[in-house]
Amino acid sequence: MHVELYERIWMWAAGALVVVFIGVVVTTAAMGAIQPPSHIETVNPAALDQHPEFAAPDVKTNADGSLTVAVVAAMFSFTPDPIEVPAGRPVTFRLTSSDVIHGFHVVGTNANAMAVPGYVSQFTVTFTTPGEYPIACHEYCGVMHHMMVGKLIVKAVER
Ligand code: CUA
Repeated sequence: MHVELYERIWMWAAGALVVVFIGVVVTTAAMGAIQPPSHIETVNPAALDQHPEFAAPDVKTNADGSLTVAVVAAMFSFTPDPIEVPAGRPVTFRLTSSDVIHGFHVVGTNANAMAVPGYVSQFTVTFTTPGEYPIACHEYCGVMHHMMVGKLIVKAVER
């Protein structure tokens, strides 16, 4: 079969691009530990009630003034609820689920993650505007999904 030279060049170029793209993905995954942020730390979803952090999920103030909030999502609520944090300080959320996949979106902010059973999703946000924010579950999790709403209270801090 005769294939034009130009056609052959483009076929080889397209093939080479695929190899480069796969190489980039494999290299960054292996060398840079690039992976979904929720899939670094695992936890047994069936034994959360015996877990040192998630048995009684709560807001903790760290020595440096930052906060760590452990959150368990379960059909159809978040614990703790409401979550109360001061404005202007870094808040690290650590989320997990005891049943199915839930979402965790602090409405009006960029705090947004998935709560996946078996994994801990962690992210850090600093809330600058005091007020009350609804926390919406944005992954369909069952018949009462649309009712799964928590509340975040950001308190003003006097300086
Ligand atoms: Cu939880 Cu939708």
